[in-house]
Amino acid sequence: MSLDKNEAIENYILSHIDDEGDLLKQLNRDAHVNLLKPRMLSGHLQGRMLNMFCRMVQPKYILEIGTYTAYATLCMAEGAADDAEIHTIEVNDELEDFIVKYLHKTKLKDKIHLHIGDAMEIIPKIDRIFDMVFIDANKRHYIEYYNLIFDKVRPGGLIIADNTLWDGHVLDTPKPSDKQTIGIQAFNDMLAEDERVEKVILPVRDGLTLIWKK
Ligand SMILES: C[S@@+](CC[C@H](N)C(=O)[O-])C[C@H]1O[C@@H](n2cnc3c(N)ncnc32)[C@H](O)[C@@H]1O
Repeated sequence: MSLDKNEAIENYILSHIDDEGDLLKQLNRDAHVNLLKPRMLSGHLQGRMLNMFCRMVQPKYILEIGTYTAYATLCMAEGAADDAEIHTIEVNDELEDFIVKYLHKTKLKDKIHLHIGDAMEIIPKIDRIFDMVFIDANKRHYIEYYNLIFDKVRPGGLIIADNTLWDGHVLDTPKPSDKQTIGIQAFNDMLAEDERVEKVILPVRDGLTLIWKK
């Protein structure tokens, strides 16, 4: 498909799915004006998917590794039940004011527990068994995150990993310095062999892997 047709299809999709709502539109605009790398946030389509997964799976305990703006956090909070508890971890403390500003614009904040710090240190301290985990932090460390959370996910729980096609770079032979591509490739290869789970890669946006723990 040509670039124009890809863009036209994307616009078509966005005009035929649920709206993201005014708050998330405002957050998205604010991120594009005031933050570095605004493309990191999940965005309209993936956000509605995360919302839909929460409606379907009905998770009570959710973990997100990599908050950034809290765009995806808010989408999951919207889709989850009133008594759900969402733990989201962000290592960059410069994002805290932005995140808190948007959490305080909505009652959804009552479901959200923001942890500022390194996921590798914080995860072992959260005393919960999760129904759903969204891995979306440093691409170099996906295997470490996965190993760290695995025993903290209930059998039948859903793990979602973002950026698993890494803009198509999974097909490349990366330079030794390209630790992100190497990290994602190693994660995908490891997962392909992991018989404790069922998995599917959705070619949505940058690749979204759904992992169901047997
Ligand atoms: C792709 S963004 C997250 C986007 C967000 N989940 C969304 O969908 O809108 C990745 C975030 O992970 C954070 N991060 C990277 N390494 C981390 C770590 N070890 N612990 C917690 N957060 C981390 C980065 O600072 C960045 O804000």
